[in-house]
Amino acid sequence: ILRPQIKGLMAEFLLNNDQLREYERRLIIDLRKGLNKQTHNSSIVKCFVTYIQDLPTGREKGTYLAVDLGGTNFRVLMVELGGPEKLHMTSMQFAVPQEKMLGTGDNLFTYLADCIAMFVEKYNLKNPNIVYSMGFTFSFPLSQKSLNKALIERWTKGFNCSDVVGQDVGMLLQKAIQRRGMKNIEIKVVINDTTGTLISAAWKNPACRIGLIIGTGTNACYVEKQKCAQLFDHKNRGSGEILINTEWGAFGDDGSLDFIRTRYDLELDAQTINPGRQVHEKMISGMYMGEIVRVLLVHAVKNGALFGGKGSHALFTRNMFLTKYVSQIEAQAAGNHAKCMQIFGELGLPHISEEDCLNVRYICQCVSSRAAYMVSAGICGLIRKMGEKNVAVGIDGSVYTYHPHVHRLMMEKIQELIMPGVQFQLMLSTDGSGRGAALAAAVAAKYEN
Ligand code: BG6
Ligand code: GLC
Repeated sequence: ILRPQIKGLMAEFLLNNDQLREYERRLIIDLRKGLNKQTHNSSIVKCFVTYIQDLPTGREKGTYLAVDLGGTNFRVLMVELGGPEKLHMTSMQFAVPQEKMLGTGDNLFTYLADCIAMFVEKYNLKNPNIVYSMGFTFSFPLSQKSLNKALIERWTKGFNCSDVVGQDVGMLLQKAIQRRGMKNIEIKVVINDTTGTLISAAWKNPACRIGLIIGTGTNACYVEKQKCAQLFDHKNRGSGEILINTEWGAFGDDGSLDFIRTRYDLELDAQTINPGRQVHEKMISGMYMGEIVRVLLVHAVKNGALFGGKGSHALFTRNMFLTKYVSQIEAQAAGNHAKCMQIFGELGLPHISEEDCLNVRYICQCVSSRAAYMVSAGICGLIRKMGEKNVAVGIDGSVYTYHPHVHRLMMEKIQELIMPGVQFQLMLSTDGSGRGAALAAAVAAKYEN
C-alpha cells in the first residue's frame, strides 16, 4: 500500500488547477516584462528577440550545414533540402567531455571546430569553391543583435566556460572554424534549440507556433507580433511577426514560484553550480528530475518511511539517481517491480520490498507529473498571450521523448486549462533543433537574396 508518510511527503507536489492558473498568470506578466523595452533588462523571463521573421515555407532548396550544442550531445549535420517534404539529413554526434563544459571558452570552441573538421573530412566538404552556409544552434540564453550575432547572456545546465559570457558565440565559432583551416564555412544564423525546434516543426506543419524543449533544460519559443516585441529594431520584412526565445527556465528566479516551490527544490538548488538561477528549469527538466526524486528518497529513508530506514552510499550521493530511472520505473506495468528492484540493487539496496517499490513509483509520478503540469500551464500561457485559436507545439528533449507519461499528462492538463474553443496539438520533433538551424540558414539565405 501507499504509506501515509509518503503521501504526506508528496502532498505539496500535487498542484491543483487553481495553482496552475496562478502560475500561468504570473508567467504571462513576466513574458510582458521581457518584451517591454523599459523592463527588459530587469526582467527574469527575458523574451529574447531572435531576428527570425519568417518560418520556412517548405519550398527551401540547397545544402546547409548545422551544429547543435547544449543538449545531451554536440551534433554536426548536413541537411539537403529539395522542396516540399524533401529533406535529407546526415549527422555525426559527439559527447562533450565535462572538462570542456567547465574549461576555457577557447578550449570548448576549438573542440567544436575539431568535431566539425571530422565531419568535413568524412563527407568530403573541403572543395574551396563550394561555400557552405551554416546554422548554429546554441541552447543557452542569447541576447541577439542580428541573425548571426548573438551574445551569450549566461551559462545554464552543466556548462560554465570561462571568458565567454557577453561574447558573440557565432563569431567565436567562426574564428575557431577558420583557425582549423575550414575557409568555406560561413555561419549565417545563431539560434536557440527552442527556435530550431519551432522552425523545423513549422516546416512540417504550418500551424506550429511554439517550440518547446523538455530535455536537459526546459525552454520555449513562440511567434509574437513585432509590435509587441519592443526590442526588435530591424526592418519589418512584411510578416509582422518575430520568433521570441522566452528563456522560461529562469522563471521564478525572483521568487514568483515560491508559492509552489518546496523545501526539496531549495535543497537541490543549493547544491547546483548556479544556485538561485533557473528555478523553473530545476523543477522540471531532465538535468534535475532524478535528483529531486533522490532528495525525496533520502528524506523518506531518514524518516523511516522507505527501505526500513536504511539507505546506501550511492543513494546518499548527489546525482546518482538518474532521470532515466524515473522513466524506467514509471514505464513498468502496475504490480511489476522488477526494474525498480534492479535499479536499487545497483544503488546498493538489493533487498527492498515490493511495497517500497510502489511507494518509490508514487514519488516518481508526483515529481514527473508536477513537471508535465507546469509545462502545460506554460503552454496555455503562451497560447493565451498569442491569442491564437489553433496551435501546434513542436517538442523535443529527452524527458518528453523518453518519459512514458509526460505527453499524455500534458494532453490531459492542457485540455483542462485551455480557453474553450482553442485547438492544440503536441508534435514530437526529434532532432528538431539541428534540422531547424539548417532551415534557418536557408531562410537567412532568402533574406540575403
Ligand atoms: C535536440 C537538440 O533537438 O533537443 C539539442 O538537438 C537540444 O540541442 C535537445 O538541446 C534537447 O534535448 P536534451 O534532452 O538532449 O537536452
Ligand atoms: C536552458 C537554456 C535554454 C535552452 C534550454 C533547453 O534553459 O538556457 O537556452 O533552450 O535549456 O535546452
